[in-house]
Amino acid sequence: MPSEKETELQEKLAINGGKPVREKPFPMRKPYGKQEINEVISALKSQCLFRYGGNKVLKLEKRFAQLYNVKYAVASTSGTAALHIAIGALNPDPGDEIITSPVTDLGTIIGILYQNAIPVFADINPETYNIDPADIERKITKRTKAIIPVHLFGNPCDMDKIMKIARKHQLLVIEDCCQAYFTPYKGKFAGTIGDIGCFSMQQSKHLTTGDGGITITNNKDFAERMSFFADKGWARTGFGPRAYLFLAPNYRMNELTGAVALAQLKKVKKIVEKRRLLGDLLTEKIKDIKGICPAAVTPGAKHSYWTYPLRILDYDPIRFNKALNAEGIPCYVGYIGKPIFLCAESLWNKKTYGNSHCPFDCHRYSKKIQYKQGDCPVTEKMLPRLITIPIHENFSKKDIEDISKAIRKVAENLL
Ligand SMILES: Cc1ncc(COP(=O)(O)O)c(C=O)c1O
Repeated sequence: MPSEKETELQEKLAINGGKPVREKPFPMRKPYGKQEINEVISALKSQCLFRYGGNKVLKLEKRFAQLYNVKYAVASTSGTAALHIAIGALNPDPGDEIITSPVTDLGTIIGILYQNAIPVFADINPETYNIDPADIERKITKRTKAIIPVHLFGNPCDMDKIMKIARKHQLLVIEDCCQAYFTPYKGKFAGTIGDIGCFSMQQSKHLTTGDGGITITNNKDFAERMSFFADKGWARTGFGPRAYLFLAPNYRMNELTGAVALAQLKKVKKIVEKRRLLGDLLTEKIKDIKGICPAAVTPGAKHSYWTYPLRILDYDPIRFNKALNAEGIPCYVGYIGKPIFLCAESLWNKKTYGNSHCPFDCHRYSKKIQYKQGDCPVTEKMLPRLITIPIHENFSKKDIEDISKAIRKVAENLL
């Protein structure tokens, strides 16, 4: 039995000098092991680290497409590249508009600007932080070409509504699945519902190669443009003068990355399952606590918990976060801090190509656009209320138990 004094110390918040719920560090993520090492050695032994000549990247694309039950996959160097490749495949005209979410990494936007298209931001659903279909519809104009929903934190967007709007207005849909591997939505995986799906293999992602990306589709024409777009627009015929079909960068994945990705692909479904088990367990343990909301899950979907999003309603989120940190729980307030268009000078200050401000000031775009505070009021209101708690597959149920205890302790004692 703990003494009265010990109990008092345990109940007192750690920021006020009490005993933290958790004193031991949480487990480090260890994504790489023997399988990755063996694949990398085999790539090196082949003496060819170039994708056209080796077999790792080719195998990766085939297996990834099989696992997603789609016809085509094109590997690349990052999630940003995967999204740029998708936009390159759609081939927008300069000044075409692409609607996306203000709560995302800049990688969602970079390809839009590089193709001289205009990013337009629809506000978010205040519970899921995913793009709000009703606001997408409000933002559609004659210039709208496509929509890029971002499945934030591993929770799918409301794809039924988004696809209905897209088909009604004849718009294309690129799904940003960088945070959502093997994430089911109504019998399909996120990434196979729209026209093209894009994934990142950056270090923090469910499937990781440090950096890397992959783009999937069932559309043959898009697939052809995707593979050219990742390879300088080069139609490799193997003889005669070279033919570069259109302007495009070099986003080719190399064989070392392909080797690691191949090994990772064998594990990723298990990784997602484990994160789902832990994330859902955390939700179960904290769902009765007043003044906070556990991770929202879109109806018909399952969450894959790239990170665990906690909404703070009745407390000061900054104080709540500090109190949780003091209890030994690593967590962060506000995710990206501001809508992405206020984080990036390429957007709010139009710092793009020299002093041109293109594509915004391009004569092909006859409108004036200025991203500013107030454009997405729900995002501005809700982002500061968000705490993200990193959880991953190397955590145990006991780790989740500690996180939940700390959340309950803070909620019960923070005034
Ligand atoms: C939602 C989202 N989109 C795009 C990206 C860009 O991916 P990468 O960092 O691999 O370029 C990321 C990664 O941070 C992301 O989380």
